[in-house]
Amino acid sequence: MRCYFKSVVWTVVGVAVLTSIYIYCRRVQLTESMELRRTQYQYSSVSRNSSNESCSQDVVKNPVCLSASVRLLAGIIPKTQGYLTVGLSSVKRKKENYLMTTLRSIFTQSSEDELSQMVVVVLLADFDVSWVQETVTSIEEQFSTRLSQGQLLVIHADQDLYPPLTGLKRNFNDAPDRVTFRSKQNVDYAFLVDFSAGLSQYYLMLEDDVTCSKGFLTSIRGHVQSQGSSQWVTLEFSKLGYIGKLYNSKDLSRLAQFLYLFYQEMPCDFLLSHFRTLLMQDKVIRFRPSLFQHMGLYSSFRGTHNKLKDEDFQQDPADNPPADVYTDIEVFEKHAPDNAYSQGTSFFWGKSPIYAGNYFLIAFHRPVVPSRILIQTGLDGKDLLKSADVVVGEIVLKTGSGVECTKNHSMGSLKEGQFEQLNVQETLKQPVLCLKITVTDKQEDWVIVRNIQVWIDKEKKKD
Ligand SMILES: *[C@@H]1O[C@H](CO)[C@@H](O)[C@H](O)[C@H]1NC(C)=O
Ligand SMILES: *[C@@H]1O[C@H](CO)[C@@H](O)[C@H](O)[C@H]1NC(C)=O
Ligand SMILES: *[C@@H]1O[C@H](CO)[C@@H](O)[C@H](O)[C@H]1NC(C)=O
Repeated sequence: MRCYFKSVVWTVVGVAVLTSIYIYCRRVQLTESMELRRTQYQYSSVSRNSSNESCSQDVVKNPVCLSASVRLLAGIIPKTQGYLTVGLSSVKRKKENYLMTTLRSIFTQSSEDELSQMVVVVLLADFDVSWVQETVTSIEEQFSTRLSQGQLLVIHADQDLYPPLTGLKRNFNDAPDRVTFRSKQNVDYAFLVDFSAGLSQYYLMLEDDVTCSKGFLTSIRGHVQSQGSSQWVTLEFSKLGYIGKLYNSKDLSRLAQFLYLFYQEMPCDFLLSHFRTLLMQDKVIRFRPSLFQHMGLYSSFRGTHNKLKDEDFQQDPADNPPADVYTDIEVFEKHAPDNAYSQGTSFFWGKSPIYAGNYFLIAFHRPVVPSRILIQTGLDGKDLLKSADVVVGEIVLKTGSGVECTKNHSMGSLKEGQFEQLNVQETLKQPVLCLKITVTDKQEDWVIVRNIQVWIDKEKKKD
Protein backbone atom coordinates (compact mmCIF):
# COMPACT_ATOMS: atom_id res chain seq x y z
CA MET A 1 0.00 0.00 0.00
CA ARG A 2 2.79 2.43 0.99
CA CYS A 3 4.73 1.42 -1.99
CA TYR A 4 1.71 2.08 -4.18
CA PHE A 5 1.25 5.50 -2.53
CA LYS A 6 4.88 6.33 -3.15
CA SER A 7 4.71 5.47 -6.80
CA VAL A 8 1.58 7.58 -7.18
CA VAL A 9 3.38 10.55 -5.63
CA TRP A 10 6.35 10.05 -7.92
CA THR A 11 4.11 9.81 -10.94
CA VAL A 12 2.33 13.02 -10.00
CA VAL A 13 5.59 14.85 -9.42
CA GLY A 14 6.98 13.47 -12.67
CA VAL A 15 3.95 14.56 -14.66
CA ALA A 16 4.06 18.03 -13.06
CA VAL A 17 7.72 18.46 -13.93
CA LEU A 18 7.22 17.27 -17.50
CA THR A 19 4.23 19.54 -17.92
CA SER A 20 6.14 22.58 -16.77
CA ILE A 21 9.03 21.73 -19.08
CA TYR A 22 6.55 21.32 -21.91
CA ILE A 23 4.84 24.62 -21.15
CA TYR A 24 8.19 26.37 -20.88
CA CYS A 25 9.37 24.97 -24.21
CA ARG A 26 6.14 25.84 -25.85
CA ARG A 27 6.35 29.39 -24.62
CA VAL A 28 9.87 29.74 -25.92
CA GLN A 29 8.72 28.32 -29.24
CA LEU A 30 5.73 30.58 -29.39
CA THR A 31 7.77 33.68 -28.77
CA GLU A 32 10.26 32.55 -31.37
CA SER A 33 7.70 31.83 -34.00
CA MET A 34 6.04 35.16 -33.33
CA GLU A 35 9.36 36.91 -33.78
CA LEU A 36 9.81 34.98 -36.96
CA ARG A 37 6.46 36.08 -38.22
CA ARG A 38 7.23 39.68 -37.65
CA THR A 39 10.19 39.38 -39.95
CA GLN A 40 8.33 37.34 -42.50
CA TYR A 41 5.41 37.90 -44.74
CA GLN A 42 2.13 37.39 -42.91
CA TYR A 43 1.40 33.78 -43.67
CA SER A 44 4.42 31.66 -43.54
CA SER A 45 5.78 28.56 -45.51
CA VAL A 46 5.24 25.96 -48.13
CA SER A 47 7.71 23.21 -48.29
CA ARG A 48 7.30 20.61 -45.60
CA ASN A 49 10.92 19.98 -46.10
CA SER A 50 11.78 23.50 -45.19
CA SER A 51 12.54 24.07 -41.62
CA ASN A 52 11.99 27.72 -40.79
CA GLU A 53 15.48 28.21 -42.20
CA SER A 54 14.87 27.44 -45.82
CA CYS A 55 11.54 29.14 -45.56
CA SER A 56 13.03 32.41 -44.51
CA GLN A 57 15.65 32.08 -47.23
CA ASP A 58 13.06 31.38 -49.86
CA VAL A 59 10.71 33.94 -48.56
CA VAL A 60 11.30 36.40 -51.36
CA LYS A 61 10.73 33.88 -54.11
CA ASN A 62 8.06 32.09 -52.20
CA PRO A 63 5.98 34.33 -50.01
CA VAL A 64 3.62 31.69 -48.76
CA CYS A 65 5.35 29.68 -46.08
CA LEU A 66 2.55 27.73 -44.43
CA SER A 67 4.08 24.56 -43.14
CA ALA A 68 7.41 25.89 -41.90
CA SER A 69 6.06 26.12 -38.42
CA VAL A 70 4.06 22.93 -38.42
CA ARG A 71 5.59 20.67 -35.82
CA LEU A 72 6.21 16.97 -36.24
CA LEU A 73 5.04 15.39 -32.97
CA ALA A 74 5.67 11.75 -33.85
CA GLY A 75 6.93 9.62 -36.73
CA ILE A 76 9.78 9.79 -39.17
CA ILE A 77 9.55 11.53 -42.53
CA PRO A 78 10.22 8.86 -45.18
CA LYS A 79 13.33 9.40 -47.28
CA THR A 80 11.79 8.36 -50.55
CA GLN A 81 8.60 9.52 -52.19
CA GLY A 82 5.81 6.96 -51.97
CA TYR A 83 2.66 6.52 -54.02
CA LEU A 84 0.02 7.86 -51.66
CA THR A 85 -0.22 10.22 -48.72
CA VAL A 86 -3.41 9.88 -46.71
CA GLY A 87 -4.14 13.06 -44.75
CA LEU A 88 -6.60 13.60 -41.97
CA SER A 89 -7.21 16.31 -39.45
CA SER A 90 -8.61 15.60 -36.03
CA VAL A 91 -10.05 17.77 -33.26
CA LYS A 92 -11.33 16.98 -29.81
CA ARG A 93 -14.91 15.80 -29.94
CA LYS A 94 -17.50 16.27 -27.28
CA LYS A 95 -18.91 12.80 -27.77
CA GLU A 96 -17.21 9.77 -29.26
CA ASN A 97 -13.79 10.02 -30.81
CA TYR A 98 -13.13 7.80 -33.80
CA LEU A 99 -9.55 8.72 -34.68
CA MET A 100 -7.99 5.48 -33.43
CA THR A 101 -10.62 3.37 -35.17
CA THR A 102 -10.02 5.30 -38.38
CA LEU A 103 -6.27 4.73 -38.20
CA ARG A 104 -6.81 1.05 -37.46
CA SER A 105 -9.12 0.78 -40.44
CA ILE A 106 -6.51 2.38 -42.74
CA PHE A 107 -3.81 -0.02 -41.57
CA THR A 108 -5.80 -3.24 -41.32
CA GLN A 109 -7.57 -2.82 -44.64
CA SER A 110 -4.23 -2.44 -46.45
CA SER A 111 -1.66 -5.11 -47.19
CA GLU A 112 1.97 -4.61 -46.10
CA ASP A 113 2.85 -4.14 -49.73
CA GLU A 114 0.31 -1.32 -50.01
CA LEU A 115 1.48 0.21 -46.74
CA SER A 116 5.04 0.31 -48.00
CA GLN A 117 3.87 2.84 -50.60
CA MET A 118 1.71 4.89 -48.28
CA VAL A 119 2.19 7.44 -45.52
CA VAL A 120 -0.59 8.62 -43.24
CA VAL A 121 -0.40 12.19 -41.91
CA VAL A 122 -2.53 13.11 -38.91
CA LEU A 123 -2.90 16.78 -38.01
CA LEU A 124 -3.97 17.16 -34.41
CA ALA A 125 -5.75 20.42 -34.95
CA ASP A 126 -7.14 21.20 -31.53
CA PHE A 127 -5.87 24.18 -29.54
CA ASP A 128 -6.26 22.14 -26.37
CA VAL A 129 -2.65 21.25 -25.71
CA SER A 130 -3.40 18.51 -23.20
CA TRP A 131 -5.73 16.78 -25.64
CA VAL A 132 -2.97 16.93 -28.26
CA GLN A 133 -0.52 15.40 -25.78
CA GLU A 134 -2.88 12.61 -24.76
CA THR A 135 -3.70 11.81 -28.34
CA VAL A 136 -0.05 11.64 -29.37
CA THR A 137 0.54 9.30 -26.46
CA SER A 138 -2.28 6.95 -27.47
CA ILE A 139 -1.11 6.98 -31.08
CA GLU A 140 2.39 6.13 -29.91
CA GLU A 141 1.04 3.29 -27.82
CA GLN A 142 -1.11 1.79 -30.52
CA PHE A 143 0.87 2.47 -33.68
CA SER A 144 4.51 2.45 -32.64
CA THR A 145 5.60 0.22 -35.52
CA ARG A 146 3.84 2.36 -38.10
CA LEU A 147 5.50 5.44 -36.63
CA SER A 148 8.96 3.92 -36.65
CA GLN A 149 8.54 2.63 -40.21
CA GLY A 150 7.74 6.06 -41.62
CA GLN A 151 4.14 5.06 -42.37
CA LEU A 152 2.54 7.44 -39.91
CA LEU A 153 3.31 11.08 -39.06
CA VAL A 154 1.59 13.18 -36.41
CA ILE A 155 1.75 16.96 -36.75
CA HIS A 156 0.42 20.07 -35.06
CA ALA A 157 0.24 23.78 -35.85
CA ASP A 158 0.32 26.26 -33.01
CA GLN A 159 -2.66 28.51 -32.44
CA ASP A 160 -0.71 31.69 -33.08
CA LEU A 161 -0.09 30.61 -36.69
CA TYR A 162 -3.79 30.84 -37.42
CA PRO A 163 -5.39 33.93 -38.91
CA PRO A 164 -8.23 35.55 -36.91
CA LEU A 165 -11.01 33.07 -36.21
CA THR A 166 -13.58 35.34 -34.62
CA GLY A 167 -15.41 38.38 -35.89
CA LEU A 168 -15.41 36.90 -39.39
CA LYS A 169 -17.80 37.46 -42.26
CA ARG A 170 -21.07 35.64 -41.80
CA ASN A 171 -21.53 34.33 -45.33
CA PHE A 172 -24.54 32.04 -45.87
CA ASN A 173 -25.91 33.65 -42.74
CA ASP A 174 -24.10 31.03 -40.67
CA ALA A 175 -24.02 31.51 -36.90
CA PRO A 176 -20.73 32.99 -35.64
CA ASP A 177 -19.59 29.75 -33.99
CA ARG A 178 -20.34 27.85 -37.18
CA VAL A 179 -18.28 30.40 -39.13
CA THR A 180 -15.42 30.03 -36.67
CA PHE A 181 -15.59 26.25 -36.88
CA ARG A 182 -15.57 26.04 -40.66
CA SER A 183 -12.98 28.78 -41.09
CA LYS A 184 -10.59 27.09 -38.69
CA GLN A 185 -11.17 23.82 -40.49
CA ASN A 186 -10.07 25.40 -43.78
CA VAL A 187 -6.86 26.61 -42.17
CA ASP A 188 -6.31 23.16 -40.58
CA TYR A 189 -6.56 21.62 -44.04
CA ALA A 190 -4.22 24.26 -45.45
CA PHE A 191 -1.54 23.23 -42.94
CA LEU A 192 -2.17 19.53 -43.50
CA VAL A 193 -2.13 19.70 -47.29
CA ASP A 194 0.89 21.94 -47.37
CA PHE A 195 2.86 19.70 -45.06
CA SER A 196 1.95 16.71 -47.24
CA ALA A 197 3.10 18.25 -50.52
CA GLY A 198 5.93 16.21 -51.94
CA LEU A 199 5.63 13.25 -49.55
CA SER A 200 4.05 11.06 -52.24
CA GLN A 201 2.89 11.13 -55.80
CA TYR A 202 -0.77 11.48 -54.82
CA TYR A 203 -2.64 12.83 -51.83
CA LEU A 204 -5.91 11.53 -50.45
CA MET A 205 -8.03 13.55 -48.03
CA LEU A 206 -9.90 11.65 -45.35
CA GLU A 207 -11.69 12.66 -42.18
CA ASP A 208 -11.07 11.33 -38.69
CA ASP A 209 -14.16 9.14 -38.60
CA VAL A 210 -14.10 6.85 -41.61
CA THR A 211 -14.04 3.17 -42.42
CA CYS A 212 -11.93 2.16 -45.42
CA SER A 213 -12.55 -0.59 -47.89
CA LYS A 214 -10.08 -3.39 -48.31
CA GLY A 215 -7.15 -2.65 -50.60
CA PHE A 216 -8.22 0.93 -51.28
CA LEU A 217 -4.74 1.92 -52.47
CA THR A 218 -4.87 -0.74 -55.19
CA SER A 219 -8.35 0.35 -56.27
CA ILE A 220 -7.21 3.98 -56.38
CA ARG A 221 -4.16 3.02 -58.41
CA GLY A 222 -6.38 1.20 -60.90
CA HIS A 223 -8.65 4.22 -61.29
CA VAL A 224 -5.72 6.61 -61.65
CA GLN A 225 -4.32 4.38 -64.39
CA SER A 226 -7.70 4.26 -66.09
CA GLN A 227 -7.49 8.05 -66.50
CA GLY A 228 -4.47 7.56 -68.74
CA SER A 229 -2.90 10.81 -69.78
CA SER A 230 -6.06 12.89 -69.38
CA GLN A 231 -5.69 15.85 -67.03
CA TRP A 232 -7.58 15.77 -63.76
CA VAL A 233 -7.49 17.79 -60.56
CA THR A 234 -9.65 15.75 -58.19
CA LEU A 235 -10.77 12.13 -58.31
CA GLU A 236 -13.52 11.25 -55.86
CA PHE A 237 -13.80 7.96 -54.01
CA SER A 238 -16.68 8.97 -51.76
CA LYS A 239 -19.55 11.33 -52.22
CA LEU A 240 -19.34 12.70 -48.69
CA GLY A 241 -17.89 16.06 -47.57
CA TYR A 242 -14.13 16.11 -47.60
CA ILE A 243 -13.67 12.33 -47.66
CA GLY A 244 -11.92 10.29 -50.32
CA LYS A 245 -10.76 13.13 -52.57
CA LEU A 246 -7.54 12.47 -54.48
CA TYR A 247 -5.08 15.13 -55.66
CA ASN A 248 -1.84 15.21 -57.58
CA SER A 249 0.97 16.20 -55.25
CA LYS A 250 2.00 18.98 -57.58
CA ASP A 251 -1.29 20.78 -56.89
CA LEU A 252 -1.05 20.64 -53.11
CA SER A 253 0.82 23.85 -52.34
CA ARG A 254 -1.64 25.73 -54.46
CA LEU A 255 -4.55 24.01 -52.77
CA ALA A 256 -3.10 24.93 -49.38
CA GLN A 257 -2.76 28.57 -50.34
CA PHE A 258 -6.24 28.58 -51.81
CA LEU A 259 -7.80 27.18 -48.63
CA TYR A 260 -5.85 29.69 -46.57
CA LEU A 261 -6.74 32.69 -48.72
CA PHE A 262 -10.48 32.01 -48.78
CA TYR A 263 -10.73 30.38 -45.39
CA GLN A 264 -13.54 32.54 -44.08
CA GLU A 265 -15.71 32.59 -47.17
CA MET A 266 -17.29 29.15 -47.22
CA PRO A 267 -17.03 25.57 -45.95
CA CYS A 268 -14.20 23.40 -47.28
CA ASP A 269 -16.35 21.23 -49.52
CA PHE A 270 -17.47 24.34 -51.42
CA LEU A 271 -13.90 25.58 -51.69
CA LEU A 272 -12.89 22.21 -53.10
CA SER A 273 -15.24 22.31 -56.00
CA HIS A 274 -14.15 25.88 -56.77
CA PHE A 275 -10.55 24.72 -56.73
CA ARG A 276 -11.38 21.96 -59.19
CA THR A 277 -13.26 24.22 -61.59
CA LEU A 278 -10.61 26.95 -61.39
CA LEU A 279 -8.04 24.39 -62.47
CA MET A 280 -10.34 23.59 -65.39
CA GLN A 281 -11.83 20.25 -64.45
CA ASP A 282 -15.47 21.11 -64.86
CA LYS A 283 -17.02 17.70 -64.17
CA VAL A 284 -16.87 15.65 -60.99
CA ILE A 285 -15.04 12.36 -61.56
CA ARG A 286 -16.40 9.97 -58.97
CA PHE A 287 -15.96 6.22 -58.78
CA ARG A 288 -18.25 3.50 -57.57
CA PRO A 289 -18.21 1.68 -55.28
CA SER A 290 -17.08 4.27 -52.74
CA LEU A 291 -13.97 3.28 -50.84
CA PHE A 292 -14.66 5.25 -47.65
CA GLN A 293 -17.59 5.56 -45.31
CA HIS A 294 -18.42 7.89 -42.42
CA MET A 295 -18.59 5.95 -39.21
CA GLY A 296 -19.46 8.80 -36.90
CA LEU A 297 -22.95 9.44 -35.72
CA TYR A 298 -21.80 12.77 -34.36
CA SER A 299 -20.07 15.52 -36.28
CA SER A 300 -17.10 17.30 -34.79
CA PHE A 301 -19.04 20.56 -34.79
CA ARG A 302 -20.74 20.90 -31.37
CA GLY A 303 -21.22 17.13 -31.23
CA THR A 304 -24.33 17.46 -33.36
CA HIS A 305 -25.87 14.49 -35.10
CA ASN A 306 -24.45 13.63 -38.43
CA LYS A 307 -25.86 10.57 -40.08
CA LEU A 308 -24.65 11.14 -43.62
CA LYS A 309 -23.79 7.78 -45.10
CA ASP A 310 -22.56 6.87 -48.54
CA GLU A 311 -24.77 4.10 -49.89
CA ASP A 312 -22.22 3.34 -52.60
CA PHE A 313 -19.64 2.25 -50.03
CA GLN A 314 -18.30 -1.27 -50.20
CA GLN A 315 -16.07 -2.73 -47.56
CA ASP A 316 -14.70 -5.31 -49.96
CA PRO A 317 -14.96 -3.89 -53.49
CA ALA A 318 -14.95 -6.13 -56.56
CA ASP A 319 -11.78 -6.91 -58.46
CA ASN A 320 -13.26 -6.69 -61.95
CA PRO A 321 -10.18 -8.03 -63.73
CA PRO A 322 -9.40 -6.43 -67.12
CA ALA A 323 -11.87 -7.57 -69.76
CA ASP A 324 -13.67 -6.68 -72.98
CA VAL A 325 -17.41 -6.27 -72.92
CA TYR A 326 -19.70 -7.25 -75.79
CA THR A 327 -23.41 -7.10 -76.44
CA ASP A 328 -25.69 -7.46 -79.46
CA ILE A 329 -28.31 -5.19 -77.91
CA GLU A 330 -28.57 -1.78 -79.59
CA VAL A 331 -26.74 0.83 -77.47
CA PHE A 332 -28.50 4.07 -76.50
CA GLU A 333 -26.23 7.07 -77.05
CA LYS A 334 -23.10 7.06 -74.90
CA HIS A 335 -24.25 4.26 -72.58
CA ALA A 336 -21.80 1.70 -73.97
CA PRO A 337 -21.52 -1.82 -72.51
CA ASP A 338 -18.15 -1.04 -70.84
CA ASN A 339 -19.99 1.25 -68.44
CA ALA A 340 -21.63 -1.71 -66.73
CA TYR A 341 -18.27 -3.23 -65.86
CA SER A 342 -16.10 -0.17 -65.26
CA GLN A 343 -17.34 0.56 -61.71
CA GLY A 344 -18.01 4.21 -62.41
CA THR A 345 -21.42 5.76 -61.87
CA SER A 346 -22.25 5.27 -65.54
CA PHE A 347 -24.23 2.26 -66.86
CA PHE A 348 -25.17 0.37 -69.99
CA TRP A 349 -28.48 1.35 -71.60
CA GLY A 350 -29.86 -0.76 -74.42
CA LYS A 351 -32.86 -0.16 -76.67
CA SER A 352 -35.77 -2.49 -77.22
CA PRO A 353 -36.87 -4.69 -78.79
CA ILE A 354 -34.81 -7.18 -76.86
CA TYR A 355 -35.23 -10.83 -77.83
CA ALA A 356 -34.49 -14.19 -76.26
CA GLY A 357 -30.92 -15.00 -77.29
CA ASN A 358 -29.59 -11.43 -77.02
CA TYR A 359 -26.54 -11.41 -74.79
CA PHE A 360 -24.14 -9.39 -72.69
CA LEU A 361 -20.67 -10.89 -72.44
CA ILE A 362 -17.55 -10.16 -70.41
CA ALA A 363 -14.37 -11.66 -71.91
CA PHE A 364 -11.54 -11.62 -69.37
CA HIS A 365 -8.04 -10.95 -70.65
CA ARG A 366 -6.63 -13.76 -68.51
CA PRO A 367 -8.24 -16.87 -67.02
CA VAL A 368 -9.76 -16.11 -63.62
CA VAL A 369 -11.39 -18.01 -60.77
CA PRO A 370 -14.30 -15.88 -59.58
CA SER A 371 -15.45 -16.18 -55.99
CA ARG A 372 -18.47 -13.93 -56.25
CA ILE A 373 -20.49 -12.50 -59.11
CA LEU A 374 -22.97 -9.65 -58.75
CA ILE A 375 -25.19 -8.33 -61.53
CA GLN A 376 -27.54 -5.39 -61.03
CA THR A 377 -29.92 -4.21 -63.72
CA GLY A 378 -32.47 -1.40 -63.86
CA LEU A 379 -32.45 2.02 -62.29
CA ASP A 380 -35.07 3.04 -59.74
CA GLY A 381 -37.01 -0.09 -60.62
CA LYS A 382 -37.18 0.75 -64.34
CA ASP A 383 -35.58 -0.96 -67.35
CA LEU A 384 -34.76 -4.19 -65.53
CA LEU A 385 -33.54 -7.18 -67.48
CA LYS A 386 -36.55 -9.34 -66.68
CA SER A 387 -35.52 -12.76 -67.83
CA ALA A 388 -31.95 -13.99 -68.31
CA ASP A 389 -29.50 -16.78 -67.53
CA VAL A 390 -25.89 -16.49 -66.43
CA VAL A 391 -23.01 -18.80 -67.36
CA VAL A 392 -19.24 -18.71 -67.01
CA GLY A 393 -17.12 -20.45 -69.64
CA GLU A 394 -13.58 -21.53 -70.34
CA ILE A 395 -13.41 -20.51 -74.00
CA VAL A 396 -14.43 -17.33 -75.81
CA LEU A 397 -15.46 -18.01 -79.38
CA LYS A 398 -16.00 -15.19 -81.83
CA THR A 399 -18.31 -16.30 -84.60
CA GLY A 400 -19.83 -14.49 -87.54
CA SER A 401 -23.03 -13.93 -85.59
CA GLY A 402 -21.54 -12.89 -82.27
CA VAL A 403 -19.46 -14.03 -79.32
CA GLU A 404 -19.92 -17.34 -77.54
CA CYS A 405 -18.85 -18.52 -74.14
CA THR A 406 -18.29 -22.25 -74.53
CA LYS A 407 -17.29 -25.06 -72.17
CA ASN A 408 -19.66 -23.23 -69.91
CA HIS A 409 -21.15 -23.80 -66.46
CA SER A 410 -24.56 -22.48 -65.52
CA MET A 411 -24.63 -20.04 -62.60
CA GLY A 412 -28.40 -19.54 -62.48
CA SER A 413 -30.91 -16.88 -63.52
CA LEU A 414 -31.61 -13.24 -62.78
CA LYS A 415 -34.38 -12.67 -60.25
CA GLU A 416 -36.23 -9.39 -60.59
CA GLY A 417 -33.34 -8.11 -62.64
CA GLN A 418 -30.68 -8.96 -60.05
CA PHE A 419 -28.18 -11.77 -59.68
CA GLU A 420 -25.70 -12.78 -57.02
CA GLN A 421 -23.67 -15.94 -56.69
CA LEU A 422 -21.26 -16.58 -53.83
CA ASN A 423 -18.53 -19.24 -53.57
CA VAL A 424 -18.38 -19.66 -57.33
CA GLN A 425 -14.89 -21.19 -56.99
CA GLU A 426 -16.31 -24.25 -55.25
CA THR A 427 -18.10 -25.46 -58.35
CA LEU A 428 -15.35 -24.64 -60.86
CA LYS A 429 -12.58 -27.05 -61.75
CA GLN A 430 -10.88 -24.73 -64.22
CA PRO A 431 -10.37 -20.96 -64.38
CA VAL A 432 -12.77 -19.23 -66.75
CA LEU A 433 -12.41 -16.68 -69.52
CA CYS A 434 -15.93 -15.39 -69.89
CA LEU A 435 -19.16 -14.47 -68.16
CA LYS A 436 -22.28 -14.38 -70.30
CA ILE A 437 -25.78 -13.14 -69.61
CA THR A 438 -28.28 -14.50 -72.12
CA VAL A 439 -31.78 -13.05 -72.46
CA THR A 440 -34.38 -15.81 -72.17
CA ASP A 441 -37.56 -13.91 -72.94
CA LYS A 442 -38.50 -11.04 -75.22
CA GLN A 443 -39.02 -7.69 -73.48
CA GLU A 444 -40.51 -4.38 -74.63
CA ASP A 445 -38.75 -2.22 -72.04
CA TRP A 446 -35.27 -0.95 -72.66
CA VAL A 447 -32.60 -2.43 -70.46
CA ILE A 448 -30.14 -0.88 -68.03
CA VAL A 449 -27.20 -2.98 -66.84
CA ARG A 450 -26.00 -0.89 -63.95
CA ASN A 451 -23.27 -2.99 -62.50
CA ILE A 452 -21.45 -6.23 -63.15
CA GLN A 453 -19.00 -7.08 -60.42
CA VAL A 454 -16.60 -9.96 -60.21
CA TRP A 455 -14.53 -10.88 -57.16
CA ILE A 456 -11.53 -13.12 -57.65
CA ASP A 457 -10.75 -16.06 -55.41
CA LYS A 458 -7.70 -14.83 -53.51
CA GLU A 459 -6.38 -18.36 -52.87
CA LYS A 460 -6.32 -19.25 -56.54
CA LYS A 461 -5.38 -15.76 -57.74
CA LYS A 462 -1.73 -16.42 -56.94
CA ASP A 463 -1.22 -19.26 -59.43
C1 LIG B 1 14.22 18.90 -49.34
O1 LIG B 1 14.63 20.07 -50.03
C2 LIG B 1 15.83 19.94 -50.71
C3 LIG B 1 16.18 21.29 -51.34
O2 LIG B 1 15.39 22.30 -50.83
C4 LIG B 1 15.66 18.86 -51.79
O3 LIG B 1 16.88 18.68 -52.48
C5 LIG B 1 15.26 17.55 -51.13
O4 LIG B 1 15.02 16.58 -52.12
C6 LIG B 1 14.01 17.74 -50.31
N1 LIG B 1 13.69 16.52 -49.59
C7 LIG B 1 12.50 15.93 -49.67
C8 LIG B 1 12.35 14.68 -48.86
O5 LIG B 1 11.57 16.37 -50.33
C1 LIG C 1 14.35 28.31 -36.63
O1 LIG C 1 13.70 28.03 -35.41
C2 LIG C 1 14.57 27.68 -34.36
C3 LIG C 1 13.74 27.36 -33.13
O2 LIG C 1 12.51 26.85 -33.47
C4 LIG C 1 15.53 28.86 -34.08
O3 LIG C 1 16.43 28.51 -33.06
C5 LIG C 1 16.27 29.21 -35.36
O4 LIG C 1 17.03 30.35 -35.14
C6 LIG C 1 15.28 29.46 -36.50
N1 LIG C 1 16.05 29.64 -37.72
C7 LIG C 1 15.87 30.68 -38.51
C8 LIG C 1 16.76 30.77 -39.67
O5 LIG C 1 15.03 31.53 -38.31
C1 LIG D 1 -22.43 -23.05 -73.74
O1 LIG D 1 -21.57 -23.89 -74.48
C2 LIG D 1 -22.18 -24.54 -75.57
C3 LIG D 1 -21.15 -25.44 -76.20
O2 LIG D 1 -20.18 -25.88 -75.28
C4 LIG D 1 -22.71 -23.55 -76.56
O3 LIG D 1 -23.39 -24.21 -77.58
C5 LIG D 1 -23.64 -22.58 -75.86
O4 LIG D 1 -24.02 -21.58 -76.75
C6 LIG D 1 -22.94 -21.96 -74.67
N1 LIG D 1 -23.85 -21.12 -73.96
C7 LIG D 1 -23.75 -19.81 -74.01
C8 LIG D 1 -24.74 -19.10 -73.16
O5 LIG D 1 -22.92 -19.20 -74.68
